[in-house]
Amino acid sequence: MRISLHASLLVAITLTGCGDDRHDERLRAAGPDPSVEALQKVADADAGARKFRTCAACHTIGKGYQDRGGPNLYGIFGRPPGQNSARYGYTAALRGAGGRWDARRLDAWLADPARVVPGTTMQFPGVPDPLDRADLIAYLRSQSD
Ligand code: HEC
Repeated sequence: MRISLHASLLVAITLTGCGDDRHDERLRAAGPDPSVEALQKVADADAGARKFRTCAACHTIGKGYQDRGGPNLYGIFGRPPGQNSARYGYTAALRGAGGRWDARRLDAWLADPARVVPGTTMQFPGVPDPLDRADLIAYLRSQSD
């Protein structure tokens, strides 16, 4: 009993640890109260790829991959909201959001989708850590032609 409890604790620690993504070091390098742009300078697309696992329940990102509960996200960076995947049934709320998915827009969206686009069906509480969001954005940016 004692041994298996110990073993499962170790597994839990290994799974929740973010690996060596130098999170705190990179956050310090971005300066005090960093802007979205400052965070993009220290963002790590590989770390973002690992963090994308949270999104993968609903999104594929490979080019030409099928939509899941959410639309395929290949090439999303710089595109207008709600138009990237031709076959996906976006909400009118997202289609009517206007503008483009730049780093600022994506940052706000990933922090709290329902606040940025009221009526969206992206049922996701948001990513609270700004550097985690920056890593995800760097990854999304890297997945395009
Ligand atoms: C529980 C399912 C779910 C999860 C988890 C989820 N999403 Fe979504 N996402 C959706 C749905 C559904 C939509 C379409 C919303 C709409 O049409 O209003 C969407 C839309 C988006 C869009 C806009 C796509 C476009 O073409 O304009 C982006 C960007 C996005 N999600 C990124 C992410 C990222 C990054 C994560 C992980 C941090 C994530 N999502 C997690 C379901 C999810």
